[in-house]
Amino acid sequence: MRRFVFVGRDAIASEEFLLDDLAGSSGRLDVGLRCVRAALLVSHGVRRDAAFYLVLGGGPLAPRSVRIRGAEARFLRPDERSLAVLAKKVLASRADEHGDAFVDVRPGIALARGGLAAVIADLGSAVPYVLEQHAPDIRDATDFDPHDVAFFLGDPGGFDETTRAQLAAIGARPLAVGPVGIHAEDAIAIVSNEIDRRARPGA
Ligand SMILES: C[S@@+](CC[C@H](N)C(=O)[O-])C[C@H]1O[C@@H](n2cnc3c(N)ncnc32)[C@H](O)[C@@H]1O
Repeated sequence: MRRFVFVGRDAIASEEFLLDDLAGSSGRLDVGLRCVRAALLVSHGVRRDAAFYLVLGGGPLAPRSVRIRGAEARFLRPDERSLAVLAKKVLASRADEHGDAFVDVRPGIALARGGLAAVIADLGSAVPYVLEQHAPDIRDATDFDPHDVAFFLGDPGGFDETTRAQLAAIGARPLAVGPVGIHAEDAIAIVSNEIDRRARPGA
C-alpha cells in the first residue's frame, strides 16, 4: 500500500466553505483535493493500492483528518469541484465526534477527530518519508519498499515546527523529487510514478 498524507495547516475541517470560492474560503483545501486526485486517480480508474490522508488544521472543528482508500472508495471523480462537493458531504458528518480513531462515513472514506497524530497511529507498518525540496533525491533511494510506504507533504507554506518534530519522532526520512520546489500534487504524481516503476513485476 502506498499512502500519502497532506498536512493542511489551515485547511478547513468543516463543511463551511464555498464551492464557488474554494481556494479563498477553505484555507486552501483546494490543494488537498488536487492531491486526492493525484494520489488516487489514474486515467479511467482508481489506484486500489493507494490511500490518501488529509490533515485539516483550520476552523473551529480542527484538527480533523479524512482517510480515503482507493480499494473501497466509490464515485471519486477527477475534477476539483466534484471532489469539493464530496468533501463538503464528508465533513458535514459528525460521525467522528467521539474518540480519535477513524470512523467510516461512506465506503472507503473515514473521518477522525484528530490531526497528524491520529493519522500516524493509523499508518501501521508503513515506512515514513517526508517530501522536501532540499533533501536527498528519491531516485538515489534504492532501498525503499514501494509496497509499504507513507509520504508526508506540506501545504503551500510547507511544514511548521510542530509537524516537523512529529515526523522526526517517527523517523520519517526526507526525500526530494528534484531540485525545484513544486506543487504538492505534482510531487505526489512524481512519487507515484517512481513507485509504479519500482513496483513493476520483475523490476
Ligand atoms: C508548494 S510546496 C511548499 C513550499 C513551501 N514554501 C516550502 O518551503 O516548503 C508543498 C509541498 O510539496 C512538496 N514538495 C514541493 N517541492 C518538492 C520537491 N522538489 N521535492 C519533494 N517534495 C516537494 C513538499 O512536501 C512541500 O511541503
